[in-house]
Amino acid sequence: MTAQKSESSSSLDKFGLAHPTGGTPDKHSRADLIHHWVPIRDLKPHHRRRILDHLLSLNEHDRYLRFGFLAPLEQLSRYVASIDFRRDEVFGIFSRRLQLLAVAHLAAMPRGHVRGSAMEFGVSVLPEGRGKGLGLRLFQHAITHARNRGASHLVIHALTENAPMLRIATKAGATVEQFGQDTEGWLKLPKDTVATHLESSLQSMAAEAIYRVKYWTAHFSDWLRMLVSSAS
Ligand SMILES: CC(C)(COP(=O)(O)OP(=O)(O)OC[C@H]1O[C@@H](n2cnc3c(N)ncnc32)[C@H](O)[C@@H]1OP(=O)(O)O)[C@@H](O)C(=O)NCCC(=O)NCCS
Repeated sequence: MTAQKSESSSSLDKFGLAHPTGGTPDKHSRADLIHHWVPIRDLKPHHRRRILDHLLSLNEHDRYLRFGFLAPLEQLSRYVASIDFRRDEVFGIFSRRLQLLAVAHLAAMPRGHVRGSAMEFGVSVLPEGRGKGLGLRLFQHAITHARNRGASHLVIHALTENAPMLRIATKAGATVEQFGQDTEGWLKLPKDTVATHLESSLQSMAAEAIYRVKYWTAHFSDWLRMLVSSAS
């Protein structure tokens, strides 16, 4: 679909994604959403509080799917506090209202792992952001970043019942193996190229710029509202 066509047939939803006017995306428009660029921001240590808030917004079942066990608050806090932002990478997708809708953690696996230098992918998308291709976009984003870090494989550990996560992994070409209620997915990664490095730098800069615009738009409208109410 051309940019012109998409503007005429769709509007932007509250996540800033193209959306057919007046309804839930159908299978065809979903394919368009998947090809629509989504700003994925690099998260830093000062985002720990927001990452924790995001995880706390998930219900118990989603936390169980994300971590493989029912993670209580203390364990979530410990997990977030333990993220090593120099060794790992964390990405986020923000809504227009600057809510952290989706978080992905790309973690370096210990050296000496049987399959070489692997990185593990973990993700969560809030219910209101699901089914729009955000999970898949984060997985693709993680593939590029893992390649740029010289990883030979991207790994996922998911519960066998987690159909959406397994769908994302197999769609990206991962080989999945079931071990009872747990499933492991392995994706062999090609080597990094100048293009993969350029892509991740440009995408990071663009996502940061878009976040700044959203931030100033939100604060400007608050300020304007205050100004109007104090004048009336
Ligand atoms: C798994 C999760 C991240 C997916 O996020 P998402 O943004 O909705 O994912 P996407 O929209 O990119 O894709 C989901 C895919 O699963 C498919 N899917 C959804 N429900 C499904 C089901 N019950 N059975 C089979 N496939 C299903 C979707 O159709 C889509 O595939 P398609 O693109 O071929 O249509 C999200 O559901 C989540 O946060 N779950 C809780 C935490 C979790 O499970 N994390 C993963 C563990 S690491």
